[in-house]
Amino acid sequence: MKISVIYHSETGNTRRMAELITSAAAAAAPGVEARFFAAEGVDRSFLEESRAVIIGCPTYQGSLSWQIKRFIDAPGVELAGKLGGCFASQNWPGGGGADFAEMTIIAGMLVLGMLVYSGGITQGQPFLHFGAVSARSPEGIYEERCIKLGENIARKAIELFGQD
Ligand SMILES: Cc1cc2nc3c(=O)[nH]c(=O)nc-3n(C[C@H](O)[C@H](O)[C@H](O)COP(=O)(O)O)c2cc1C
Repeated sequence: MKISVIYHSETGNTRRMAELITSAAAAAAPGVEARFFAAEGVDRSFLEESRAVIIGCPTYQGSLSWQIKRFIDAPGVELAGKLGGCFASQNWPGGGGADFAEMTIIAGMLVLGMLVYSGGITQGQPFLHFGAVSARSPEGIYEERCIKLGENIARKAIELFGQD
């Protein structure tokens, strides 16, 4: 079971989220091989073989960064049928726009024919709602949310697709 985590990051916050999500996904179940890639350096064959794709970005002007929008507009690989999850970093604990960034990523995933999942409030705390969100660096509750997202996506991917 391969899982790709794709991110854009300029100052490292979103990259750290990607690292946490990737290691949590890999640890969630035996046989999961998770890797993370900057959006401009994706291993296309690994992405092609991935059953789940988790996409994250910093919040720019209350929405997703243009670098991740560009990736969603032209992923270069057929993503239809893959399981999608999302994460976003913002500067302020409340109201910075990360939720809107995540909903815009989710909209793109739906248009591409992906299945979307976070676990929401159904998999215990910390709750995720749309995906993992952090304010600046992912520490404490923000770190826990990243770990939760990686675990939830890995487990759901295995439930949907088997060990594959
Ligand atoms: C052009 C630009 C626009 C931004 N707009 C927002 C915003 O609307 N809301 C917010 O909370 N943070 C905003 N930020 C802050 C970043 O989202 C935040 O610092 C994020 O953690 C950066 O992630 P990175 O370290 O992965 O690059 C903005 C930053 C930049 C550079």
